[in-house]
Amino acid sequence: MLTMDRRDVIYSAAALSTTAVSAFPSFVAAASNPPTRMRVGVIGCGNVSASYLPHLRASPHAELVSACDIIPARAEALSKAFNIPHVYPQIESMLAGAEFDLLVNLTDMQEHERLNRAALASGKHVWSEKPPANSFEAAQSLLALAEKNERWIRSVPVVVASPAFAFIAEALASRKLGRVVAAHAQYGHNGPNWAAFVHQQGGGSLLDLAVYNITTLTGLLGPARSVTAMTSVVTPTRKSERVGEIQVVADDNAMLLMNHGDGVISHVQSGFHYFHPHDDKSGEETRETLSIIGSEGTMGLVGYDWDPRAVDLATLEAPSTRRHVIEPSGFCWQMGASLAAESLFTGRSLLITPEHAVHVLEVIGAATQSQEGGRLIELQSRFEYSIGA
Ligand SMILES: NC(=O)c1ccc[n+]([C@@H]2O[C@H](COP(=O)([O-])OP(=O)(O)OC[C@H]3O[C@@H](n4cnc5c(N)ncnc54)[C@H](O)[C@@H]3O)[C@@H](O)[C@H]2O)c1
Repeated sequence: MLTMDRRDVIYSAAALSTTAVSAFPSFVAAASNPPTRMRVGVIGCGNVSASYLPHLRASPHAELVSACDIIPARAEALSKAFNIPHVYPQIESMLAGAEFDLLVNLTDMQEHERLNRAALASGKHVWSEKPPANSFEAAQSLLALAEKNERWIRSVPVVVASPAFAFIAEALASRKLGRVVAAHAQYGHNGPNWAAFVHQQGGGSLLDLAVYNITTLTGLLGPARSVTAMTSVVTPTRKSERVGEIQVVADDNAMLLMNHGDGVISHVQSGFHYFHPHDDKSGEETRETLSIIGSEGTMGLVGYDWDPRAVDLATLEAPSTRRHVIEPSGFCWQMGASLAAESLFTGRSLLITPEHAVHVLEVIGAATQSQEGGRLIELQSRFEYSIGA
């Protein structure tokens, strides 16, 4: 088993599949009484659960066992819609109730750390909606707990599993763009109004939106060595559909620069005041939202990195732009929990790693520190991924 920094990995053809053999033993192999599927408990039965559960229910590796929400009517409704036998109003009763193996956490981002910690402590594996926790230190400590308890934690974004990501990584690996030194990505819309948490302490456009682009760019260009950023709150109050007027304290406008080493610099911007000709609807974004530029070529990802539509490529050898990876090949942003169940069940690892998620949280925390102190912030974390021998 060879472990490499992702910077080395992008120049290694062996790294270009979306899955590799895992160092983590499969759940099935490790269990004394092997089940036929991963038993799943879902916590958080709001907006995103309706998108997640059809994919998860169709997975041959998952069985929906429990639904939990502090608003019991939501858990009841999800249970009815997806035929989930057990319903709970909070994590404690869910963990003490019907047995399950994998927690799928779809709650407010401020709740992730506490709920993921409780699940890991009681021996569950965890798939968390973005982010796994909302600070670098908290995510590090969750990962340490998972390792201590020999449990598995992974989280959204799943962008590194897309065929568009694989195509771009392969183009970089084969040096189609020559010397790559610059990249730009952006993601914004006019703000989620169904839930207040995105705008409150521990939320923000960096954690909710830029997290996708930062994951993609660090995945392609390697870990950031340092970060500088500016963030602001443009709209100090908003109307949330559920709780009425709220104070906005988390960034709703952000721009950050990452230094990936060897002269490579990338830029990410996110915010909740971004007009879209087609609104923020999956499948309707036809512009490029991410571009990578080299001395001998340029590539643009059409659509979002979480919902890629194609990759446009122009090179010195073939200067007229050609469109690639038009088919999603089964990739969709709702597939995270299904990937988790499959990976745990079969032992195949994912390019989605907890170390990468921890690094992305350090980048985001550094962006906030950079804004507060008006300075460049050096980062400590790196991530590696394993290439099966
Ligand atoms: N909505 C989207 O399009 C979208 C897309 C991708 C990711 N996400 C992520 O999914 C997560 C959930 O987002 P959402 O839009 O579904 O929010 P939501 O507010 O619609 O749903 C969250 C649900 O979690 C429940 N909840 C909160 N704390 C809880 C606790 N301690 N125990 C049990 N239940 C609890 C709430 O009652 C609510 O029903 C967030 O992390 C968000 O960033 C959302």
